[in-house]
Amino acid sequence: MNIKDLIENSKSTRDFKEKRVPEELVKEVISFSKEAKPLYTDQKIHMMYLEDGNMVNEALEGIAGFNGIMIKAPQYFLFVTDNKEHDQINVGYYVQKIVLKIQDLGLDSCWISVPEDGQIVKEALSIDVEGEPAAILAIGYDEDEKKVINQFKWGENYSKTSMKVVENNVSSRLSMTEVVYFDKWGKTETLDQFIELGMEEVFRYAVMAPSSFNRQPWRFLLKDNHLYLAIKEDDKANEELDLLDAGIIILYVELLFTENSIDGTWKIEIDGERKETIHIPQDYKYIGYFSTEQ
Ligand SMILES: Cc1cc2nc3c(=O)[nH]c(=O)nc-3n(C[C@H](O)[C@H](O)[C@H](O)COP(=O)(O)O)c2cc1C
Repeated sequence: MNIKDLIENSKSTRDFKEKRVPEELVKEVISFSKEAKPLYTDQKIHMMYLEDGNMVNEALEGIAGFNGIMIKAPQYFLFVTDNKEHDQINVGYYVQKIVLKIQDLGLDSCWISVPEDGQIVKEALSIDVEGEPAAILAIGYDEDEKKVINQFKWGENYSKTSMKVVENNVSSRLSMTEVVYFDKWGKTETLDQFIELGMEEVFRYAVMAPSSFNRQPWRFLLKDNHLYLAIKEDDKANEELDLLDAGIIILYVELLFTENSIDGTWKIEIDGERKETIHIPQDYKYIGYFSTEQ
């Protein structure tokens, strides 16, 4: 499948069949993970395969997942980092690459968030490994092939009953005109402007990126041939989730520009001086920019 189809068809599965993922496919994911380039090559991410889904689900109930709600799955991957500064951006970027690979293999998955103190996860699973657990992926086969729309709204408690299955298989997303500003913060443009700049396709797919609680915290500022990224901070989320969500959108933007034959690179400069010069509001975390200049 090409990257746009993968992005479009990717969804979070919370209701897995008991059917296990065959070991050949697990091996394929593991060998992909060894080749997959992270955003920061000087940071280590160790992907651990957890084959006993029942044990993991029981051990992590009340610990991992939004509000401690674990997602029951036949198998899981646990991602452990060497705990360098801002490593969650790297985890978001890297794990989402694996999510797309899993999707390409005809499997389903769901991100599961871990508590800020990831050591609790290691203790619960009796895992003796160096580093900090940063994310979990549930893998398997979706019981219901339809996409789930997450109706989470800030101010309400997240619960499984707040999600419903929709017939058209599409979970709700903001429109590109709501998340990309032009020349100055807050200045929106019409779809025609995106088309004129050859950016319509990139953002049509970029906004399909998954994010924690489906909160879609990313905002972009397109100015002087630079695409600046900021993440809306919120009391309900934490810095870890902000950075994981940032890493995912960074991957999508990179993949989609490449797909459109535009090569560029991301420069990460979290909350650097530029936040002031380009007037990003205080309640946003400035992440960095994508540019085609070398
Ligand atoms: C960093 C991150 C953490 C997430 N953690 C959880 C989780 O703990 N439990 C859960 O049910 N979904 C989790 N999700 C899935 C999101 O809720 C989901 O991606 C979002 O609602 C969009 O839906 P979609 O993936 O089906 O398009 C997480 C997603 C991300 C990106």
